[in-house]
Amino acid sequence: MPVRATVICENSVHGNLGALAEHGWAVWLETGSGSYLFDTGQGYTLLGNAAHLRIPLGDAQAILLSHHHIDHTGGLLDAVRAVRRASGRAGVPVYAHPDLFKDSFAERDGTLTFIGVPHTRAALETAGAEFSLSSEWREIAPGLALVGEVPRRTTYETGDPAMKHYDATGRIVTDPVRDDQTVVIDTPEGLFVVLGCSHAGIINILTYIRERTGTERFHTVMGGAHLGPAPEEQVAATLEALHTFDIGRIGVSHCTGPNVAARMAHAFGERFFFCNVGTVATSD
Ligand SMILES: [Fe+2]
Ligand SMILES: [Fe+2]
Repeated sequence: MPVRATVICENSVHGNLGALAEHGWAVWLETGSGSYLFDTGQGYTLLGNAAHLRIPLGDAQAILLSHHHIDHTGGLLDAVRAVRRASGRAGVPVYAHPDLFKDSFAERDGTLTFIGVPHTRAALETAGAEFSLSSEWREIAPGLALVGEVPRRTTYETGDPAMKHYDATGRIVTDPVRDDQTVVIDTPEGLFVVLGCSHAGIINILTYIRERTGTERFHTVMGGAHLGPAPEEQVAATLEALHTFDIGRIGVSHCTGPNVAARMAHAFGERFFFCNVGTVATSD
């Protein structure tokens, strides 16, 4: 089915006067199975940028969340209210992983900063959010899937040690961010993949999607690759492994980091695009 993806929230803006950047990620997806909001940014730019880009938030069938981090969920309360107000519907379905409301932290220079969903479940439900939480691959609408938890198989995609959460005994340990998931949309030209933050590793994610769908061809892969904070061995191995996939276009952003994005631009040439606020990618 046809897809049109518009980036609403991202870390930078180029040439979109009036739009604002923030460390975050949100994408408006128009598909043959309806429109969806995937992630909601940190909460500072979603509504302003959506208005600026003339995104009809009230048309959203549902809100999909890649994972619990605040730079993807901070705008959730605003998003739920905006969809309800514009659509007149009583509730707004929100699809996510069961870890959505866990406490987690980013460690910088020995200091822990809370990076979980900044609103309580009760406040979100009072506003009209109807949560559907699952860790499994699931089809949200015909041809549109959320991939659920991704098996971690590569040796070099080891996760970000700055991400922390509580273990079963209440100790602060590294968080594998198991909830990280991706949107996959089936198009006649191949799969249209929108990543959240790729905490599972972009190679693990693409490998799993190829396995589950039996489709080799990726028409588009766009989103955060979380390579900004990754060690050089991981970046180099990932860039090499990406060439083993049949990818028509790759557009990275957000936690990919500008240096790694530049290397990808060099490696993929005309198949690469920068993915920033206002970027539109289609399945044509
Ligand atoms: Fe994240
Ligand atoms: Fe992120």
